[in-house]
Amino acid sequence: MRLRMTVRTALLMVAVFGLGGIATHAADPPQVPYPSGWRSWTHMKTMAITSDQHPLFAAFGGIHHIYVNSVGLKAAKSGGPYPDGSVLVFDLLEWTESGGAYTEGARKLIGVMHKDSKKYKATGGWGFEGFKAGDPKERLVTDPVNQCYNCHSAQKEKDFVFSQYRQ
Ligand code: HEC
Repeated sequence: MRLRMTVRTALLMVAVFGLGGIATHAADPPQVPYPSGWRSWTHMKTMAITSDQHPLFAAFGGIHHIYVNSVGLKAAKSGGPYPDGSVLVFDLLEWTESGGAYTEGARKLIGVMHKDSKKYKATGGWGFEGFKAGDPKERLVTDPVNQCYNCHSAQKEKDFVFSQYRQ
């Protein structure tokens, strides 16, 4: 009787912890670190989407500036490939228009791409994350493949990056 209880307990533990382990692995892609200090990095380019004539208006409407850290700067100028440690930031801001002048407003989010070819192998070597209003505690990405990577795959030839450094 005592033995049977022990075996049952052991089986129960395997079931609980075993499944727990698998579930955690499937649900949690490796976390992308917050890009501290990104506001002082090199500005690559700027673009604005200010009307729903553009298909990305709902997700990315606003004025956005793109930044690259020092590790990725050379690749940003040549169009990739990017070495591990490269980080790109997409800074999306609200806007107002008045009398033909477009003015930046509050930060909507920052999008981050962090290159680590081993850690983020499943998504082209890039970790994708979004931070609401640029707040390190407000992560936005739960499914990097469907929310980010699939669209960036269109740029596979340019190491999954759309933007190039503007002289
Ligand atoms: C439907 C397509 C699409 C999706 C989905 C998408 N992006 Fe992008 N992303 C773009 C385009 C297009 C640009 C270039 C914008 C420009 O020209 O300024 C871009 C630019 C970027 C950049 C600057 C580097 C580059 O490739 O130009 C980062 C960083 C970025 N996106 C992160 C993300 C993250 C994080 C997600 C998921 C939350 C995401 N993107 C989802 C289309 C997409």
